[in-house]
Amino acid sequence: MTAIGIDKLSFYVPQHYMSLGTLAERQGIDPAKFSRGIGQNKIALPAHDEDVVTMAAEAARAIVTAEDAEKIDTVLFATETGIDQSKAAGVYVHKLLDLPSNVRVVELKHACYSGTAGLQLAAGHVARKPDRKVLVIASDVSRYDVDSPAEATQGCGAVAMLVSANPRVMELDTATGCHSEDIMDFWRPNYRKTPLVDGKYSTVKYLHSLANAWQDYVAQGGRAFNEMAQFCYHIPFTRMGSKAHAHLSKLNEAQNDVNLIESGMVYNREVGNCYAASLYLSLISMLENTDIDLTNRPVGMFSYGSGAVAEFFSAVVQPGYRDHLMIAHHRKLLEDRVALNYDEYLAFRHAPDPTDGSEAVMAQVARGRYRLARIHEHKRHYEAV
Ligand code: HMG
Repeated sequence: MTAIGIDKLSFYVPQHYMSLGTLAERQGIDPAKFSRGIGQNKIALPAHDEDVVTMAAEAARAIVTAEDAEKIDTVLFATETGIDQSKAAGVYVHKLLDLPSNVRVVELKHACYSGTAGLQLAAGHVARKPDRKVLVIASDVSRYDVDSPAEATQGCGAVAMLVSANPRVMELDTATGCHSEDIMDFWRPNYRKTPLVDGKYSTVKYLHSLANAWQDYVAQGGRAFNEMAQFCYHIPFTRMGSKAHAHLSKLNEAQNDVNLIESGMVYNREVGNCYAASLYLSLISMLENTDIDLTNRPVGMFSYGSGAVAEFFSAVVQPGYRDHLMIAHHRKLLEDRVALNYDEYLAFRHAPDPTDGSEAVMAQVARGRYRLARIHEHKRHYEAV
C-alpha cells in the first residue's frame, strides 16, 4: 500500500504578544496561576491587518514550491474564525499563493478538530490520486471576553501541511479512533465575536472524549500505548495536555512519563491556543525540540474540538525527516516578537469591522508578506507586500 502522510509542515505566528504576567498584574492575581496552573507564558495577537487568511498564507508560503503548486489539486482550510459565512477563506489564500485555477478549495469547520478532518480527508484523496498533493491549512484566532477566566488561554496562529504519497516527514497510520457527542462546552453563535464557554465542563469532556477516541483507536487495530515514541495532544493550554497524558497513561496502566509530551508543548506555551492549528503546532514543536531520533518511530496524536468531535490517530516519522523541518525559521518567528502592554492589547482586540459597507483602511503592522489592506463595500482586500 502506498505510504501517505505529511510531506512538509510549517507554522506562522504574528509578531505581537502579551505576556501572561501583564494579564496577571491587570487581574491582580499570582502570575504562577498562569505559568504553572494553566501552563502558558504568552498570548500571540494579530494586528488589524492580520487574520486567518494572512496567517494561513504565511504558513503555506514557507512550504509550497512552484513544483508543489503544480501538483496541488485541493486546498482544505480549517478554521473556526471564519471571515465570511459563505465564501471559503482558502480562496483568498489560493490567490495570494498564486495557485493554478484547476484547484478545489473548501473551508472545514468543527471547532479545534477541523485541522484533523482536513488531514484525514486529504489522505483519502491522495490514496485515490497518489500523484496529487493536498494543501491542508489550519488557522485560527482564539479570543475570549475580557476579564473572563478563559482570557489567559487566548492565542493565534496557522499551520500548513502538504499531504502527499511517499511523505518525507510522517506516514499516517490507517487506524484511527473517533468520538462524537452533541454537547455544549464551547460554542459561538453567528452573532457573537467571542465564544461562550463552560470552561470546567470542557476540560472534563476533553478527557472523556480522549478515553473514548483511544478505545475506538484500539478497537480499529491501532498501536499499543507503549509503542508510541511521543504523544501530541490538542493544547488549549499546556496544563490540559499534561492532564490528558496523565489520563491516558492511567487508562493504559502505564507510568505518566512527561518526557513523552514536553517537547510537544514548547511552542504552544509561547503562542497560546490557536484552535484548529494547536495540535499541529504541538506536532511541529515535538519534531523540532525533542532530542530523540524519531526515525521509523510512531507518534500518538489526539485531536479535540468542542461540541464535540475527537480523534486519536498515529503517524510514523520518516527516515531523513530532520532535513525537512524548518527549525531556524520557526525559532526566529518566536524570538523576533514584540510585547504589548495591556492597553495596546485592548486596542489590538478592536480591529475595524464596518458593517455598513464603509471603508476601513488598516495601518501596516504585519511583519509578513501578506496583509489585509482594507475592507470596503463589505469586501476584504488582501495584498502581498
Ligand atoms: P480558571 O477559573 O482559571 O481555573 O479556568 P482554576 O481557578 O481552576 O485554575 C486553573 C489551575 O490553576 C488550577 O489547577 C489551579 O489549582 C491552578 P488544577 O486544579 O487544574 O490542577 N492555580 C495555581 N497554580 C499555581 N499557582 C497559583 C495558582 N492558582 C491557581 N497561584 C479554565 C481555567 C481552563 C476553565 C479557563 O481558562 C477556560 O475556560 N478556558 C477556555 C476553555 C478551555 O480551554 N477548555 C479546555 C478543554 S476544551 C478544548 O480544548 C477546546 C477548545 O480549544 C475550543 C475548540 O475546540 O474550539 C477550548
